[in-house]
Amino acid sequence: MNYEEWYKIEKLAKSWTLEAAQLLKDSFQNSLSITYKSHISDLVTNMDKNIEKFFIEKIQKTFPHHKVLGEEGYGDEIYDNAGIIWIIDPIDGTTNFIHQQSNFAISVGIYEDGIGKIGIIYDVAADDFYFAKVGEGAFLNNSKLNTLEKVTLTEAVVGINATWVGPNKRVNHENVQNIVKQSRGTRSYGSAAIELAFVAAGKIDAYMTMRLSPWDFAAGLILLNEVGGVVTKTNGEPISILEQNSILAAKPGLHEEMLEHLSK
Ligand code: IPD
Ligand code: CA
Ligand code: CA
Repeated sequence: MNYEEWYKIEKLAKSWTLEAAQLLKDSFQNSLSITYKSHISDLVTNMDKNIEKFFIEKIQKTFPHHKVLGEEGYGDEIYDNAGIIWIIDPIDGTTNFIHQQSNFAISVGIYEDGIGKIGIIYDVAADDFYFAKVGEGAFLNNSKLNTLEKVTLTEAVVGINATWVGPNKRVNHENVQNIVKQSRGTRSYGSAAIELAFVAAGKIDAYMTMRLSPWDFAAGLILLNEVGGVVTKTNGEPISILEQNSILAAKPGLHEEMLEHLSK
């Protein structure tokens, strides 16, 4: 793929995201149809489905050879990371979308042969558009984001969900409690995509969680790569783009310090 082709993909991905956001904003006037998937906290609305279908229709028409991996399952069966894959979360933070009409995002990560090329996270209610293109940096609206500087845990604000601070199946909660106690403070926003974008923008210093799907982190990883953020699983292993992973995303230095706590 040459520069012009990627530029076309960038332009369209941005404008489709803005169009999709308008559909979400317009939907606030109508009543939502809400159902749940695996359990009562796992909500999905008609808008999650509509937005995913909106992207798929545009992508299939314009780029018939590209594949789509979307949370709601209207995309392609993906067996490997060959070719161009759009990894889409039509609404990240559906619970916030329903309860607050804020703190939700559209997340689009575009990969070629497993390499992150373009990442978009649009925090719709805040009108904050995060964008990254490999090798060209990451941006919040029209401002280029700075490279992340080293920080220590005692100076850090850590994004974490309360689930992991109490006893749970996935992580030793005492290690997590030590991180929480030693940090300057913790925050929880209810949208993994927004929390990853916040790490990239330096609004929080780290984000950790024990289970995310590709559509939750695909775009965030591309943003973080462009600003020198460190992202691995919580055991330090590399992330597999097409699988569920635990995620530890942090500024340099802090990532190592948190890994040490988590490995005790
Ligand atoms: C969820 C949000 C949430 C995270 C969950 C995700 P959804 O995505 O990102 O913050 O803790 O693991 O599933 O369901 O709102 O797209
Ligand atoms: Ca999600
Ligand atoms: Ca979602």
